[in-house]
Amino acid sequence: MTIMSMNVFIEALRANNLIILPTETVYGLGANALSDEAVLKIYKAKNRPTKNPLIIHVASLEEAMKYGVFNEDSLKLAKHFWLPAKTANSLTLVVPIKSGTKLSKYVTAGLDTVAIRVPNHPVALELLKQCNFPVAAPSANISTQLSPTQKAHVMLKDIPILEGGFAQVGIESTIVENTTILRPGIITKSMLETVLQKPVVISDGKVIKAPGMTKRHYAPQTPVVIDSILYDPATEARLGFGKDNQCTLNLSITGDIKEAVRNLFAYLHELDQKGYTRIHIAPLPKDQELSITLYDKLHRMIG
Ligand code: TXA
Ligand code: MG
Repeated sequence: MTIMSMNVFIEALRANNLIILPTETVYGLGANALSDEAVLKIYKAKNRPTKNPLIIHVASLEEAMKYGVFNEDSLKLAKHFWLPAKTANSLTLVVPIKSGTKLSKYVTAGLDTVAIRVPNHPVALELLKQCNFPVAAPSANISTQLSPTQKAHVMLKDIPILEGGFAQVGIESTIVENTTILRPGIITKSMLETVLQKPVVISDGKVIKAPGMTKRHYAPQTPVVIDSILYDPATEARLGFGKDNQCTLNLSITGDIKEAVRNLFAYLHELDQKGYTRIHIAPLPKDQELSITLYDKLHRMIG
């Protein structure tokens, strides 16, 4: 990535146009979060209901504090999980909006809170450092379809894509509001509890606090069967796990759940293009902390 080509993307954002940017979780569809015109383009391109608010992306906690009000707990989490901490990873914090910010009202869909994250991806960070505005970015998929974890899996047409390789996490960030996980991700309940030194709960989804967390989501076009043992290799595909190798692709030959999380969307995208009548997914570990995250994604595919 030359400086020249990075500039083209920054200029596009400044002109209130959309770009696709890499992050460590999934590719995002980015726009200047201060501009109504730019943010409305996101909803249109994704066919996303405007009542479903967006995450803003900034390069640092210092920038984040221009838009959100951080209490003791959210500060602890930001300092621990966002750069420059070594443990930096994929956490989105929902905090009250700071009064007087120039954030587009469409970013927050009328809520009095804003979702903010510092992505842990060098290309995204370089972009954000050079922008003097936050970048609103939902996953770069059409609403309800799978999120892209590599450039080739972006289905949105005619929007420039900033190349950033394979997303190393492979699923969307964990979203936390106070001590509640609104969306499970790679940052788990126990990791949050260790930092906060208090109990954290996972939202049961009955009250839809994160409006995007309606049941059906992240689904390939091909029907998915989970915890599946048998399949017909002539017409169907199967994602295996560990030594269970009767499969078209294996999510993790070594049986590593984090690797399975990383590969899940990418492999589903790949199989979805191939005209199978069904995609079967092998039983995955149910007794690990990331099992909650993984099965949350799987249940949304069949829900
Ligand atoms: O990993 C990620 O978070 C990716 C990358 C691109 O950063 N982004 C992403 O955005 O997953 P999106 O729009 O697909 O999901 C954002 C979620 C939605 O479920 C939305 O309802 C929720 O965040 N959200 C946004 N603002 C909120 C708020 N103020 N309160 C509660 N939930 C909020
Ligand atoms: Mg999404």
